[in-house]
Amino acid sequence: MHSHIKKTAFFVLSGLVFVGISWKEKNYMDRPEKNPPVLTINGFTFTDLNGNGRLDTYEDTRLPVGQRAANLVEQMTDEEKANFLIGTGMPGFDGLTPVVGAIEGRVPGAAGGTYAIPRLGIPAIIVADGPAGLRIKPIRPNDSKTYYCTAFPVGTSLASTWNTELVQAVGKAMGNEVKEYGVDVLLAPALNIHRNPLCGRNFEYYSEDPLVSGKIAAAMVNGIQSNGVGTSVKHFAANNQETNRLSINEHVSERAMRELYLKGFEITVKESQPWTIMSSYNLINGTYTSARKDLLTDILRNEWGYKGMVMTDWFGGFAGFTSIKAGTSNSIAQLNAGNDLLMPGLPSQRDAILAAIKSGGISKEVVDLNVKRILELVMRSPVMTNYKYSDKPDLKGNAEITRNAAAEGMVLLQNKTNVLPYTKTGGTIATFGVTSYDFISGGTGSGDVNEAYTISLIEGLTNAGLKTDEELKNLYTPFVAKEKAVELEGRKNKGILALPQRLPELDLSEKLIAQKAAGTELAIITLGRNSGEGGDRKVENDFNLAADEIQLIDRVSTAYHKAGKKVVVILNIGGVIETASWKNKVDAILLSWQPGQEGGNSVADILTGKVNPSGKLTMTFPVKYEDTPSASNFPGTPADDPKEVTYAEGIYVGYRYYNTFKVKPSFEFGYGLSYTNFQYSDIKINGMDASGNTNVTVKVKNIGKVSGKEVVQLYLSAPAKSIDKPVSELKSFGKTTLLAPGETADISFTLSSKDLASFVPVQQAWVAEAGKYTVSLGTSSINIKQSGNFSLDKNMVVEKVQAAFAPDTKFTDLKLR
Ligand code: BGC
Repeated sequence: MHSHIKKTAFFVLSGLVFVGISWKEKNYMDRPEKNPPVLTINGFTFTDLNGNGRLDTYEDTRLPVGQRAANLVEQMTDEEKANFLIGTGMPGFDGLTPVVGAIEGRVPGAAGGTYAIPRLGIPAIIVADGPAGLRIKPIRPNDSKTYYCTAFPVGTSLASTWNTELVQAVGKAMGNEVKEYGVDVLLAPALNIHRNPLCGRNFEYYSEDPLVSGKIAAAMVNGIQSNGVGTSVKHFAANNQETNRLSINEHVSERAMRELYLKGFEITVKESQPWTIMSSYNLINGTYTSARKDLLTDILRNEWGYKGMVMTDWFGGFAGFTSIKAGTSNSIAQLNAGNDLLMPGLPSQRDAILAAIKSGGISKEVVDLNVKRILELVMRSPVMTNYKYSDKPDLKGNAEITRNAAAEGMVLLQNKTNVLPYTKTGGTIATFGVTSYDFISGGTGSGDVNEAYTISLIEGLTNAGLKTDEELKNLYTPFVAKEKAVELEGRKNKGILALPQRLPELDLSEKLIAQKAAGTELAIITLGRNSGEGGDRKVENDFNLAADEIQLIDRVSTAYHKAGKKVVVILNIGGVIETASWKNKVDAILLSWQPGQEGGNSVADILTGKVNPSGKLTMTFPVKYEDTPSASNFPGTPADDPKEVTYAEGIYVGYRYYNTFKVKPSFEFGYGLSYTNFQYSDIKINGMDASGNTNVTVKVKNIGKVSGKEVVQLYLSAPAKSIDKPVSELKSFGKTTLLAPGETADISFTLSSKDLASFVPVQQAWVAEAGKYTVSLGTSSINIKQSGNFSLDKNMVVEKVQAAFAPDTKFTDLKLR
């Protein structure tokens, strides 16, 4: 081993590390089954990381990690530092010549990693996507084993559970796969705000509301990291569109940044201390987020106390492929801002960094700090202790977890005459819509997962003992197979960023549908939508239903209603669609989201009543796209190739807008039906105590006939004297356990003084204004069950902060008054 290390050290010192470490040598240090030699000193055992036969300071595990990392930094050469600040490239990213030297680490299909420094015993860490589960290659050359991962429900689905305990359990399961497949950091969770329903990656994100986003993300991070692997909370910040994502300049006010686009990250950082954070692609007010010191140092570290490291998104800071090829990014500005690691890492970046180190173009202090933070990450990663991963995570157990999580994330949007749960036995169900036969487990791009299977709706219904119509199945199956092949062919050569297309609907005659209405008990129509990284959705044929879908709904509902039978629509979608124009034509609507690999089983659990739906919308379903507050400012100008976008709606995103400006949605934020009913009573509000906390309690009783869970939402209306404020904002939420009929739960909430405060720009502070506060407890943002008041005598400056996000153009945020 010693000689290998020496040989590699020679390569490193001669500056040839990018191409110089041979596969064998690199692998030698990384391979978990090879243990470095051990030293025993005074009865203590130490790992001789660099194999030099003595205990160096950084090898002394009794010392704090920070001290050990600092000692390592002292021993690194400039070349090693320059190399360490970039990743090892992105293997398999076709068509990008600069990444030709990329190193495929020990986990094929991972998104990247860091360089090993074998002479110092520093191993390479591996990072891999993503938010719905680990994304690695399931099949490896010359290997008979498979490496499938569990496709968990997408972000919108998980958030719709409003159940932080459940999300934490999902995170724990995901993190177990990360660890057992030899990965150190999962590039998840993603919690950008749903600013506009067309954002192609909304399925990965949680909500239009920062509190829901932050609480769900923190639970996810805590779950994943409980395995001793890391997370990368992304994309920091305001990555709210895919159109021109590498170069879009967003004009956003400091207030909107702090109250909306940063709030969820603040909660996540404070409640879960993620190991890493990923800066986003976009610019804010003229500067790339990855090069913004106010964002990455002043706010993230100094204000919020973040201790981990920051990496760029893949090629973040490059305006596009031309600049990637030309090597023109702003690496030095990124490092200076506090963006420690540049991913996936390009030779041009390393060269620029090394030149700057040599010429004094970057200070030693900054470089050492960035390097130290990356080292601290490496030192806490499983690879550092040669963790012997099994390549055998508990896929069976995790399938059960995803099945239950997906069911809890489903939102029952409509249930006329209690058509659901469907408890009839003996009859046949007619399943319409191509998506019934080709269920969508999750979106595309880096948020995709290579799962072993997806349970379709038909399979789910069959597994639940329900009978589905054979003739329809025989008509749909070959049609779907053919259309699916065409669709896949269309994106075959476009790699990870290929955008999925909707499959056309099968044109069924009115006569055939009438026959089905006569011969079956119930009609189910599944509508599907898919989207992914690299593109936003469109209004026509995507947000709005396409003509063939409307025709299907019309024909099926007319025929079934004529025959005195019911129609259920399943929405197998990742983001919001239009529902107002057609919802009254059908009886029930179940929003199943993209529910992961067990999707069909999870839907069947809800349809049959095995699980009582308790999911609630974490975003608004507007009547029409044009009602969206950002509709006229998305995805930016000029329309044919947007370069900039103004967040003119300010803080009025989602329900903050609809409820304040009295625009009636189709389904409001927080909405979702249950098979039972809940009664709220006995609200009690204890005014602010000495430590600035206000306590609220309420009783919630199940007054229906079946067991169920309820999400209790706390909205606060604050006095709006010095600044405009939304009519109410979600400030806390809780979910009951499964309550049996007649059972009551006591729910309590604590509001901190910061929860009462808004960001007042002229004061550069979070201020809770004097006056009357109304607490509203509801089952949605509109359906309030109990409310009460308390008041504050004096204005309270809760937190004063440094100015950030200086505007690069003049505009004013939307105001009510
Ligand atoms: C995405 C990130 C992802 C990264 C690595 C980027 O294109 O925006 O979310 O983690 O690729 O795959």
